[in-house]
Amino acid sequence: KKNLVIAIDGYSSCGKSTLAKALAKKLGFIYVDSGAMYRAVTLYFLRNNIDVADDAKVVDALQHIELNFHSRDYESHITLNGEEVSDEIRLMPVSENVSEVSAHKIVRHEMVKQQQRMGKSKNIVMDGRDIGTTVFPDAPVKFFMTADPKIRAERRFKELESKGNNATTLEEVFENLAHRDYADTTRKESPLVRADDAIILDNTDLTQQEQLDFALEKVNPFL
Ligand code: C5P
Repeated sequence: KKNLVIAIDGYSSCGKSTLAKALAKKLGFIYVDSGAMYRAVTLYFLRNNIDVADDAKVVDALQHIELNFHSRDYESHITLNGEEVSDEIRLMPVSENVSEVSAHKIVRHEMVKQQQRMGKSKNIVMDGRDIGTTVFPDAPVKFFMTADPKIRAERRFKELESKGNNATTLEEVFENLAHRDYADTTRKESPLVRADDAIILDNTDLTQQEQLDFALEKVNPFL
């Protein structure tokens, strides 16, 4: 039987990874956080002063970046050239630059190639912005997630706080989400858009369990 890919796309901070992890855990699938890959590339670019306007530098930099996922309890942990960067990629410097880096054609091309390789023979749940449209357009189950922007900002703010990051205000988080949503939906290279066959999931008023139950019902016929 062929492997199954579940694609989850949607706006920033609307619970994609929470649902993806819950689904992966329930089904015994591998969870792949594609956003973490763009974030790790962004971190590398920041550390090494790579100017995204310089295509030759971008190409060269990508050849020096090795990303790996280490799954622990279905939490996604990513390493950048062997260094654990899972926490650092969530902080503001990366969040403020990731949309610009991820809009780069050469960066996207390389990430999509690596993502497609991961879903070639394994059962996976992958979340991101272009998974159902570009990475796995043939995925049998696709979700497109959305939620009220204020609720999303509050959720992300609480998450940062719980990790001991008190340097960022709720307003800053809100602005960053609005900025990324705008950049992600208006960029030229595979913008964030709902695939025609993606199931919409607005979780503004749903608990995590309700979202999981809803998703499982849609996935079940393909298991
Ligand atoms: O999912 P997360 O919010 O961590 O993603 C960070 C950023 O990475 C997004 O705002 C978007 O610019 C980019 N991204 C992307 N395509 C994906 C996943 C993330 O462009 N598949």
